Amino acid sequence: MALPVVLLRQWRDGDLAGFCEMNADPEVMRFFPKPLTPSESADMLARLREGIERRGWGLWAVEADGRLAGLTGLAEPAFTSRFTPCVEIGWRLRREFWGRGIACRAACLAQSHAFDRLGLAELVSFTAGINLPSRRLMERLGFARDPGDDFDHPWLPEGHPLRPHVLYRKRRPAGAEPAPQLSARKSVPRGRE
Ligand SMILES: CC(C)(COP(=O)(O)OP(=O)(O)OC[C@H]1O[C@@H](n2cnc3c(N)ncnc32)[C@H](O)[C@@H]1OP(=O)(O)O)[C@@H](O)C(=O)NCCC(=O)NCCS
Repeated sequence: MALPVVLLRQWRDGDLAGFCEMNADPEVMRFFPKPLTPSESADMLARLREGIERRGWGLWAVEADGRLAGLTGLAEPAFTSRFTPCVEIGWRLRREFWGRGIACRAACLAQSHAFDRLGLAELVSFTAGINLPSRRLMERLGFARDPGDDFDHPWLPEGHPLRPHVLYRKRRPAGAEPAPQLSARKSVPRGRE
């Protein structure tokens, strides 16, 4: 079967229905405190869009063969921990797009943007310890976990099954220097594989 064309882009009004459906799916949101209501999804989409507009990067829309597959990209955690401030890489796909390597390709694009265009020295990624699909993806991308970095998510109460989190890190590969001629601020990564 042909591999889908995967790209990252800014959000559009037309993404709202698919975005709401993804965030309302209990299976997709299994490792989050709860699924999102349509109005929570609309607020989130507006925030993601504004962040990309302002900084030139963020959590982009993932398109696979022209259809909205989910979100992937870069973010600055809004909570304080011993590993913040930092830039994290994250992902969430609609269920029908799982198991096809789409998340991995989208994450590679976001990772290249972070290292090659923004010139970041390190990316982190974190998730609930029980989120094995997400951890598999981190490992596939070459992120490594130091159990000493494990932490309890400060926004979740003690005893909550999602509270224990694992942290993975990846340093910029040697030789991957930022391209000086590129503007890091307004660039959106695109890719075909
Ligand atoms: C985490 C998530 C994005 C991973 O999606 P995914 O589709 O499993 O990830 P990948 O793109 O790496 O695909 C890997 C799977 O596709 C399969 N695959 C098929 N074709 C492939 C290809 N060409 N290249 C790579 N993998 C391919 C792999 O074998 C693998 O299957 P396996 O997990 O059964 O071994 C997805 O589970 C998700 O959206 N979860 C809910 C949201 C969430 O928890 N986000 C993280 C919060 S921190």
